[in-house]
Amino acid sequence: MKRIIIALSLVSVSALAGAAGMPFGGQDSVDDAKALWQAMTNEGLVGDNAVHSRPYKGVPPHGMVLDTIEKDITVNGHTGHVIIKRNYGGKGVDVNKVAKDPKPWLKAVTVMFKRENGYDADNQNWFWAKYKPNGSLHSNPKKMLLAGRVAKGKPAGCISCHRAAPGGDYLFNQ
Ligand code: HEC
Repeated sequence: MKRIIIALSLVSVSALAGAAGMPFGGQDSVDDAKALWQAMTNEGLVGDNAVHSRPYKGVPPHGMVLDTIEKDITVNGHTGHVIIKRNYGGKGVDVNKVAKDPKPWLKAVTVMFKRENGYDADNQNWFWAKYKPNGSLHSNPKKMLLAGRVAKGKPAGCISCHRAAPGGDYLFNQ
């Protein structure tokens, strides 16, 4: 009898840990972000040998010069649409300089990846991440890493701003 009680309490502890999991910035989100970066690297979408699309003049908060590419990719067995926005900046940045040599101006790679149903049903199951050019993650002022459901339930951040995009699909450029 005692053994059964212990087994049951172990189950409920792990169920609780899952339920209380952080919507973003936790270990599971960081692992997902790593797997996504690896898949994008394999597809030539990020990293040293990445393809670039034509840069264009951007608007805040993403940067003064941007380029966007998209594709369907498979991460951990799930295939979904990924949209990659490269954010360029720095003193004197302009579209021509970025077109000629993008690397020195690259500040951040912001990514939306369409996850499986149920990942975040409230927000069309998007996974969000803001990477540095080397694939590590940017963090917010509270030192939370920007990967996962960023920042679900908060008045500012990826989700709250993209929720307001025209068309109701969380996308501005479509
Ligand atoms: C304050 C509003 C705002 C916030 C916060 C924001 N975005 Fe955006 N995002 C935009 C706008 C506006 C565009 C279109 C910009 C453009 O391409 O000129 C955009 C474009 C994008 C795109 C290209 C797809 C599209 O919607 O056109 C991606 C990917 C993206 N953002 C990811 C992110 C991620 C990841 C975060 C959080 C780390 C984030 N965004 C936070 C406003 C925001």
